[in-house]
Amino acid sequence: MAGARFDGLDIEILRSRKSEKWHAYPADVLPAWVAEMDFPIATPIQQALKRALDSWDVGYPIAPGNTGIREAFADRMEERFGWSVNPRQIEVLSEVVQGLYLAIGAFTSPGESVVVQPPIYPPFLLGVKESGRRLVENPLVQQPGGWEIDFDALAGSIDPTTKLFLLCNPHNPSGRVLTRTELERLAELVLEKDLTVVSDEIHADLVFNGGQHIPFASLAPEIEARTLTLNSASKSFNIAGLRCAVGHFGSDALRKRFDGHSSRHQRGGLGIQGLYATIAAWREGQPWLDEAVAYLEANRNYLMGELETRFPDIRCTPAEGTYLAWLDCSALGWPGSPSTRFLDRGKVALSDGINFGAGFENFVRLNFATSREILEQVLVRMETAIQGPD
Ligand SMILES: Cc1ncc(COP(=O)(O)O)c(C=O)c1O
Repeated sequence: MAGARFDGLDIEILRSRKSEKWHAYPADVLPAWVAEMDFPIATPIQQALKRALDSWDVGYPIAPGNTGIREAFADRMEERFGWSVNPRQIEVLSEVVQGLYLAIGAFTSPGESVVVQPPIYPPFLLGVKESGRRLVENPLVQQPGGWEIDFDALAGSIDPTTKLFLLCNPHNPSGRVLTRTELERLAELVLEKDLTVVSDEIHADLVFNGGQHIPFASLAPEIEARTLTLNSASKSFNIAGLRCAVGHFGSDALRKRFDGHSSRHQRGGLGIQGLYATIAAWREGQPWLDEAVAYLEANRNYLMGELETRFPDIRCTPAEGTYLAWLDCSALGWPGSPSTRFLDRGKVALSDGINFGAGFENFVRLNFATSREILEQVLVRMETAIQGPD
């Protein structure tokens, strides 16, 4: 049965992993926080890694440009998203967050400002602050139909010091997958205000309801020219520990600025396993991914149904993509952080909303990329926290 391999996960095996997800909290806590799946990885990836290990192929990798990874990414973008890219415009990085940090340093100067859209994956906020740039926040707005961009506020927040826009699409943590109309409005603004864009599209493969991710750079050549697109197989194929990502530069000018900012050795080298696994994922992993996305969508639907019946005080709009649910716990009326209460009283670890931006203290992020049984246990523990004594 399709998706069967994602059922019946053995929690003891998961706990024996050395990953952050399963080790940051004591053994009586069920983790549903950091964005990593509990699922077994795709067979072609496992085989590629095994092949390398069986032949002790763990030396320095050849230059990534000669491994075929850039072509694998370019072919994938063309096949899946109709976006034609030149492999020579792609650089291989060890992680998307590295690309984000380097881009902030390369594309802005101290004192200049960078726009982000909270609630947002925390390194977007930290990257700007830690680089000594000014953070301009354009929060998404929670409408009855879901999270929306406030375009007027966005236009108003940009001043002559604003040089860079950090886009996250599909969006972590709201699960929004922006429509073409929304992306085109963003593109117009970016041109009008002469902004450079870093578009983090790491969740591009994880889209539900038969929807389609649209790479921002694919909108028009003049948009591509000012956009650095960051992507990786690490979220969709669950290989985050192997540390491999790509950056596509829409113009030579952009790439020159990026490369001029840091040297190869400052960036660090890549692990050969990450290269092999990523190529296997992009070239041969689609059947696994199709099953994983179907399973995740079913989990999302289950979660939404249970929230409605068992958690009437938690507000959530269904994620259109990613495997994250962004839960507004304001109506629970708890005095402190909901994530602390869920942890202390329910022994379930959810991500704390406060890390995703000011004003989101009453939110938690739930990762539903696990078996249905474990997801149900997460919900039972949340119920315990809610029903327990004050
Ligand atoms: C939007 C987004 N970007 C980047 C990352 C991390 O990517 P990497 O491990 O390649 O730095 C994550 C992980 O959850 C993410 O959600």
